[in-house]
Amino acid sequence: MCGIVGYIGPREAYPIIIEGLKRLEYRGYDSAGIALFDGKDLKVSKTKGKVVDLEAQVEREITTTGNVGIGHTRWATHGVPNDVNSHPHVSNSGNLVIIHNGIIENYESLKLELISRGYTFKSDTDTEVLVNLIEEIQKQDDLKLGKAVQLALNQVIGAYAIAVFDKNKPEEIVVARLGSPLAIGIGDNEEEFFIASDASPFLEYTKNAVYLEDEELAIIRFHKGIKIRKIKDDSLVETYVQELQLNLEQIEKGGYDHFMLKEIHEQPKAITDTYRGRLLRNEAIIKMAGVEDNMKKFLNANRIIIVACGTSWHAGLVAEYIFEDLARIPVEVEYASEFRYRNPVINENDVVIAISQSGETADTLAAIKLAKSRGAFVFGVCNVVGSSIARESDAGAYTHAGPEIGVASTKAFTTQITVLTLIALRLARAKGTISSSDFRTHLLELELIPKKVEKALEADDNIKAISEIYKDAKNFLYLGRGYNFPVALEGALKLKEISYIHAEGYPAAEMKHGPIALIDENMPIAVIATKKGHYEKVVSNIQEIKSRKGKIIGIVTEGDTQVRGLADHVIEVPETLESLSPLLTTIPLQLLSYHIAVMLDKNVDQPRNLAKSVTVE
Ligand code: F6R
Repeated sequence: MCGIVGYIGPREAYPIIIEGLKRLEYRGYDSAGIALFDGKDLKVSKTKGKVVDLEAQVEREITTTGNVGIGHTRWATHGVPNDVNSHPHVSNSGNLVIIHNGIIENYESLKLELISRGYTFKSDTDTEVLVNLIEEIQKQDDLKLGKAVQLALNQVIGAYAIAVFDKNKPEEIVVARLGSPLAIGIGDNEEEFFIASDASPFLEYTKNAVYLEDEELAIIRFHKGIKIRKIKDDSLVETYVQELQLNLEQIEKGGYDHFMLKEIHEQPKAITDTYRGRLLRNEAIIKMAGVEDNMKKFLNANRIIIVACGTSWHAGLVAEYIFEDLARIPVEVEYASEFRYRNPVINENDVVIAISQSGETADTLAAIKLAKSRGAFVFGVCNVVGSSIARESDAGAYTHAGPEIGVASTKAFTTQITVLTLIALRLARAKGTISSSDFRTHLLELELIPKKVEKALEADDNIKAISEIYKDAKNFLYLGRGYNFPVALEGALKLKEISYIHAEGYPAAEMKHGPIALIDENMPIAVIATKKGHYEKVVSNIQEIKSRKGKIIGIVTEGDTQVRGLADHVIEVPETLESLSPLLTTIPLQLLSYHIAVMLDKNVDQPRNLAKSVTVE
């Protein structure tokens, strides 16, 4: 939610900030803004709309010279997306300017207090309250900016990543974080500094970065370096500079029309990267440090509780089948947002697995904090290295999918399932609930999955033709059983997100208990009917749909004839073990939603109202 960028150094700040905002736009894209210090004064330009709209406006409105600046791309929380509510926000005196990613929960009481002291507000945002609070504190005791920010943040309840500077002291930017990510890129000889929600805006300038921890504040001074302090007690924190592993190609479209399409096609490599070094087939072992080091916790666990949101929650549902089936460990899968607020019965005998692509989802983060406070062991499955959930977990395993920029999650889902499968197999081996020959078969089949995903991707033209037929449908149903029930949910979510067509996923047998009433000749129904997953039962469900004239799109195993004889269309995927089939059946559903959205001329990578990392609850 919201992307922030800043620069201070010898270069022109504007091109760095505007290009940086384009890279961070996946985080929020309902409005954007920029503030530059041009050597004499502060120039602010902001607008409802995308970064390209801002770019056009900036070039009309302000001079773009200056070596200090901050920029913001917004996903609205307080106040509708409009020009006034867009960031940056300037304090009443016109001296301080701020950008903010997060939510100030107690902003109304702070605002009333400031109004009683004569402050006025132009916007409905919590952020404008914060910048004026900083100003008021600074004014009262003639404090330095860093100290005033620290004192203001001590009065704030909520989450934030902020960057603020004073136009009368433009050689310094103050940044701070609590619950929202913030990276500082450090240029050569500490002569210049880049600020951003993630490292992508400054990759071509430096590979050295400092990631602020929660409740830390950094004062960044041109030529003088960074000083990091704890917000609570002002104690100095040692600066830990990390070398970035990301490269530019990973965050570019690489010839594809959309990031989503690129990421769908990256899945064979992403899955390989996920099991590389962990799945050692010749030695018939799985090696995962986070699991090995905590084997007792896993083996002694009464149950595993999986917490996640959205697509990651769907990966959790697939994992429930795998863990129970292979490792015979009871599993519960919870929406993090429900779990955190319902006083769950949980204790030190439980293992909690938190799944999150971004590693920043506020509800998932809160759920694991709650679980830890009750003594549970928390294992994180994240994609973004060094993310908040990865750091907050007791142990974990990264998915190694590489950056996922399309807002609709694709390769994150399949790599999450891959990691969870590896864990389940490792535990099954340790518990003796899988025979050595079954174990070997799983390792072999898992190794074959990337090639089979490539094969599944070859159905693209067929899927495009089917998309053309159903692109104007108003509703879709997705049905699956067993391991493929969560895939049906995920297929429906993908379609909803990017094409705005209403879609529902159901366990195929549940259809009779309600959704069947919706079926008529206008209803397209994607049915996952692969050979090894209760095939005959699904065929019966297909018959039931057919007799009500529903339009059937069957996702079938290569060579299938029975469903082909019944369905209006079939999309083939290669054969594999039932437990691994979600890794293949997901692919055509991703492509179906992608093509429909493109045909409807929707913004595939940045669907309306969504954001890539949901750092507010
Ligand atoms: C769906 C999607 C969202 C996320 C959800 C959780 O395509 O992207 O539903 O899966 O917001 O995000 P993470 O995995 O970052 O915790």
